[in-house]
Amino acid sequence: MTIYTLEPTTPTILKTQPLRPLVLRPRRLRLSGGLRRLVRETTLAPDDFIYPLFVRTGNGIRNPIGSMPGQFQLSVDQLAGEAEAIANLGIPAVILFGIPATKDSCGSDNFNENGIVPQAIRAIKEAAPELIVISDMCFCEYTSHGHCGIINLPGEDHYDPHLPEGYLLNDPTLELLGRASTVHAEAGADIIAPSGMIDGMIDAIRSALDAGGFQHVSVMSYAAKYASGFYGPFRDAAESPPSFGDRSQYQMDPANRREALKEVAIDVAEGADMLMVKPAMPYLDILADMRRDFNLPLAAYQVSGEYAMIHAAAANGWLDLQRCALESLIGIKRAGADMIITYFAKDAARWLR
Ligand code: PBG
Repeated sequence: MTIYTLEPTTPTILKTQPLRPLVLRPRRLRLSGGLRRLVRETTLAPDDFIYPLFVRTGNGIRNPIGSMPGQFQLSVDQLAGEAEAIANLGIPAVILFGIPATKDSCGSDNFNENGIVPQAIRAIKEAAPELIVISDMCFCEYTSHGHCGIINLPGEDHYDPHLPEGYLLNDPTLELLGRASTVHAEAGADIIAPSGMIDGMIDAIRSALDAGGFQHVSVMSYAAKYASGFYGPFRDAAESPPSFGDRSQYQMDPANRREALKEVAIDVAEGADMLMVKPAMPYLDILADMRRDFNLPLAAYQVSGEYAMIHAAAANGWLDLQRCALESLIGIKRAGADMIITYFAKDAARWLR
């Protein structure tokens, strides 16, 4: 007969030493709902959620996004009602993605004070001033080529013959990121969230915000953002697929774990206020590493593909939507996230009532 005892100094490690059989019955604490609630280690609440919104030009528009059931592209006039509904559900924050009327090689809509996102920020802040507005700071939705910054091409501004053609020009992009961030801050954004994985982006944005009088505006870094296939549905939603190549020269290789801690250390040194991992479910080890090694508030982005696959399976009758959505969210929280950007935010807030 094998019987077990606990090692006193490391109580979770079981050692094979003789003890009365079966005194250790973990099932005792699972006997009833009340006991399970008492010993629950992780909880979910609407406070944990950030809801993504896709905003486009036009009027009276509420376009369903086919690959993301229940999600819509909204025109600016729709945002007041939407912002109030989100705030009433107890969700503290939204993150904005813009689909501009016109795109160009440098994504100028992103730093135009009447661009789509600045308009959206003003509309939301007017309707629900307490709702925190996070501006996703990247150029891919605004550039004609769909890349996250300025591209090295003959004949274009900043062309550098020493660098490869098609290369994302890092430092000229930094300047535009700084400029766009001050425009979004001026419109009322509470948090700027750079998502382009451009080297030096946190420092460039922090410096531009401070120089512009926006020392009170926070920066949430997409510190470890991976080149992921799970962004597939988002590219429909934001109409921003790259017209050539992919994003592997700036987003991280899914195979790398240690490199995430290097990225994070740099962003912390540059002055990030909050950190993010993206996607969430396939990267829970990264989340747990970051939670262990850094003290800043930590967000996880449950991306479009994570949402779409749960919905697709549920639509086939293969998974229970509510149960699996909530389980995915508690898993992300348990791995170390303080907050979760999720398309399930509104549904989950209702389910948790
Ligand atoms: C880039 C950006 C992307 C997402 C958020 N910001 C797409 C990408 O990097 O290719 C993806 C979000 C999602 O899939 O839900 N600005």
